[in-house]
This record gives sequence, structure tokens and C-alpha cells, in this order.
Amino acid sequence: MAKIFLDTANLDEIREARDMGLLDGVTTNPTLMMRAGTADLKANTLKIIEMVDGPVSAEVVSTDTDGMIAEARDILSWAPNVYVKIPTIPSGLKAMKEISSWPNGRRINATLIFSPVQAYMVARAGASFASIFIGRLDDAGLDGMEVVRQTREIFDIYGFDCQVLAASIRHTQHVTQSLLAGADIITLPFDVLQKMSRSPFTDAGLQRFLADWEKVASS
Ligand code: E4P
Repeated sequence: MAKIFLDTANLDEIREARDMGLLDGVTTNPTLMMRAGTADLKANTLKIIEMVDGPVSAEVVSTDTDGMIAEARDILSWAPNVYVKIPTIPSGLKAMKEISSWPNGRRINATLIFSPVQAYMVARAGASFASIFIGRLDDAGLDGMEVVRQTREIFDIYGFDCQVLAASIRHTQHVTQSLLAGADIITLPFDVLQKMSRSPFTDAGLQRFLADWEKVASS
């Protein structure tokens, strides 16, 4: 079954999604931290962990291998369900190789993936999640979902122990297509999660049922 993560650092949104019973994990990034109005990555991540029974990703901000490794050592020590997000760049691949060799190091979310070969490389480097940025590929006039499909196929052919994470989701069609493409995880902005449970036809149908009931009940 595909897992649903929430792509936010906003605690109210996480609480709401948890109460809907549809929250398998959370992904954050520096932009989402900025939107949530906090620069305290550790404090915010610990608050999220209290609400979520599943993987919670926190991203490094260093771009050199040693800096990423040092940040990862700290982040992974916060809780057993914290995953460290490492950008898919050459220095990041080196960091992933090192971090994945640690006893607690198989908690890497390789981020900013835009091609199947990048996904192949992070799987080889020991990442547990390969985060493919569908919406940003679509924004550039490319086919983001095709990257998910091809990555799924490559991981299946070679039996990689790395989960395909559909990220940068813009609308509910992306969710449907990610499910059909065999994504292991889909990380959703809160507004997309809300839209998934709604249809104007459902609202109109409900209004009609209630109006008819009113008629018969008052007759
Ligand atoms: C993934 O983990 C990222 O946080 C995210 O999906 C980025 O998406 P965006 O293109 O909406 O910023």
C-alpha cells in the first residue's frame, strides 16, 4: 500500500491530517520551515515527532560532504523515526555513502531528484527514500510522472531496497497518477490532502438528500 506523508512544517496542518487518520509520515525542507515561521529545525521536528507515528524528514543545509555528515549525525540522534534529507548532488552522494554505513544510517531521504539516473545513484549510495520532484519537472514543461514510472521500473528490475517517494505534488491528479505508477510514498501539501476528500458532486448530492429528507420528515 502506498503511504501518505504530509509535506509541511506547519503543526496545525499536521494535527489536522493526523486527526483525519491519514498520516504515515511528514517531510519538511528549509522553504517549508520558513513558511511555518521557524528557524529552529530541531525544536520544530521534535514537536512533529510527538504527533506522527512514522518517518519525519528534516533537511541538512550544508552543501559540502563533511558538513552534511556532521548535520546528519546530529539530526539522526533526535529520534529513531527521524530521516535526514540530503540533496542529490555529488557531495551529497558521498555523504549518503558514509551515513548509510552507520548502524542508524539507513534513514536517508535523498531529495531534489529530477531524473531516473539520479534515483539510481541514490539507491546505490544507500538512501531509503528517493524523492522525485514531479511538480517542478512539470513546471519546466517536462513529464515528472515519467520519472516516477521509470524509477519504479529500474528499482524493481534490480531489486533496490529504496522507496520511490513522489514529491512536489501540485494537485489530486498527481496523486492518482503516482498511485498508478507504483510510488511507495506520496508526500502531499495540506491543500491537496483536503481536496482529495472533496467533490462538488458529493456536496450537491448531500444537499439534495438533506432537502428531500426535510420534505418527507416535515410532511
Ligand atoms: C519533498 O520532500 C519536498 O519537500 C517537496 O515536495 C517540494 O515541493 P515543491 O516543489 O512544492 O516545493
